[in-house]
Amino acid sequence: MAVPDDANTEFRESTPPMSVYDAISLRRDVRAEFSGERISEDVLQRILTAGHHAPSVGNTQPWDFVVVQDRGTLDTFAEHVAGCRRAFADSLPPERRETFDPIKIEGIQESGTGIVVTYDPSRGGANILGRHTVDDTGVFSAVLAIQNIWLSAVAEGIGVGWVSFYDEAFLTDLVRVPSPVRPIAWLCVGPVSRFQETPDLVRFGWRDGRPLSAAVHREHF
Ligand SMILES: Cc1cc2nc3c(=O)[nH]c(=O)nc-3n(C[C@H](O)[C@H](O)[C@H](O)COP(=O)(O)O)c2cc1C
Repeated sequence: MAVPDDANTEFRESTPPMSVYDAISLRRDVRAEFSGERISEDVLQRILTAGHHAPSVGNTQPWDFVVVQDRGTLDTFAEHVAGCRRAFADSLPPERRETFDPIKIEGIQESGTGIVVTYDPSRGGANILGRHTVDDTGVFSAVLAIQNIWLSAVAEGIGVGWVSFYDEAFLTDLVRVPSPVRPIAWLCVGPVSRFQETPDLVRFGWRDGRPLSAAVHREHF
């Protein structure tokens, strides 16, 4: 049976070689290492294409990507996020606050580009194959697009930092997301000087990771 052709071949041929395992182990949430240059349009298109190749429940592709590069919008969002950061800091007991204080939680202005990833629960209509039992599979699908963007960015030498210190209604208004679509992430995206070897939250003593052996269970949880 003939397989219909599409943009896939072109996408694969134009992507630089890096094993998926290399990209997974190099990947970091980037906050402080953005070089200040802006991502080029062709690389941006490649990582968005990678996002758009994600699997999705019922093939609904419930994501959209709002690319934000306007300085005024970046500044407005950064100011809002700074307020959310202060509110979180104020909620912490003194010793946790001291650990949190030096941790940078975003690189909105330095990255020069934000990608707001949205989730549309109405995409695909009423009878979505695979979402009739687990409604969350819709949002899971949009998150897979984010992971594709994140890993392909690493292969391009581009850093991504996920910012979730925001009020959803504020971001909805800022980038004019129509109801019932929801913004689910602001990704700071830009060239980096390097990728840290150790996650920031580990380096700053906020929270260590756990070994794989603690996460793997056999037959029962
Ligand atoms: C859903 C989600 C939300 C996150 N929100 C933030 C955030 O608001 N600010 C931040 O600095 N990092 C954020 N992160 C990044 C995590 O802190 C980071 O992934 C984790 O500490 C592990 O580090 P690594 O990604 O470098 O391996 C977020 C990550 C995820 C998956």
